Amino acid sequence: MNPQRHAAGITGLGSYLPERILTNKEMESFVDTTDEWIQSRTGIKERRVAADNQFTLDLAYEAAKAALADANVTADQVDLIIVATCTGDHRFPSTASLLQNRLGSTCAAFDLGAACSGFVYALNTAAQFVMAGTAQTVLVVGAEIMTRILDWNDRTTCVLFGDGAGAAVLQRVPESYGVLGTDMGSDGSGGELLKVECSITRGEGESRRYIQQNGREVYRFAVNKLGESALQALQNCNIDPAEIDLFVPHQANVRIIDAAAKKLKLPSEKVFCDLEKYGNTSAASVPIALCEARQQNRIKHDDLIVMVGFGGGLTWASCVLKWYAPQQ
Ligand code: ACO
Repeated sequence: MNPQRHAAGITGLGSYLPERILTNKEMESFVDTTDEWIQSRTGIKERRVAADNQFTLDLAYEAAKAALADANVTADQVDLIIVATCTGDHRFPSTASLLQNRLGSTCAAFDLGAACSGFVYALNTAAQFVMAGTAQTVLVVGAEIMTRILDWNDRTTCVLFGDGAGAAVLQRVPESYGVLGTDMGSDGSGGELLKVECSITRGEGESRRYIQQNGREVYRFAVNKLGESALQALQNCNIDPAEIDLFVPHQANVRIIDAAAKKLKLPSEKVFCDLEKYGNTSAASVPIALCEARQQNRIKHDDLIVMVGFGGGLTWASCVLKWYAPQQ
């Protein structure tokens, strides 16, 4: 790392999952699907669904509050808020600006749109501010209400997604800890494969506000890219994949995660997976997983963590991070 730059690490984590659980079994009553099909093709058993009176800001706020408390930071100490979401409550103001106001902070705030890669994109972006010394404390949130952009008659998509939020606080940590290597990319030529078409400027409204995807092509892309991007991020910081302590990938499909783990030659105990409980929560999936992994004592001081996101755009992003938590 450039010696003039600071090291940026995660000093606090928080997550929020809505109470309502929707099981595969329950879905059988209103969609032409089976619990067996969903579990065998994806690994998902159930997902969370936000209450009618809950909005993306509400989920983001709960996760953010928990992360700030975990980092022992007050809202007025935050210099920048980045919210990764593709289900922001308004076209503008951004969910980040609304969150800033609800938290009682006065800092800079913006949303970042990179679909399911959003949180890792935002984390890598936030790290740049801390490394450059232009921000001391950055709050990064991934928050989504995916169930409101699903066509519940389309069994090929509605069984895959769920709602939730996760948040991380980034601050300066001692050298050799924190973010060591990153990789980010996009291939806009694959934009058609995974999209929500609804567009004010093109006059395509309500009827196109649902997720459409070419599942097989997205699967092919994800199986290659998840492992490839992780390897690139590791190569960017000269670290061998064998040094990974925990792999925390985007939680979309257990078969995609298994393929990536194989590429990285990782045993299953080094791979974190919670998608059976939450499904694909898009930009919220990596921070929710990270939070759960730490709650389960699967992350400790000095551990090497690799996070990877992939999704609509097409986009992908990876982050290699050495965990700093000497008091844990
Ligand atoms: N229940 C029962 N049958 C179903 C269902 C369902 N929910 N969905 C599809 N099928 C049927 C299909 O109609 C098809 O039937 P047919 O052979 O008679 O035509 C059959 O199951 C097989 O369909 P495939 O699409 O080939 O199934 P596949 O094994 O590819 O699994 C899946 C589909 C799970 C969607 C997989 O392709 C996948 O995970 N793709 C990646 C999706 C992904 O990760 N998306 C998120 C990206 S992140 C973001 O940015 C949002």
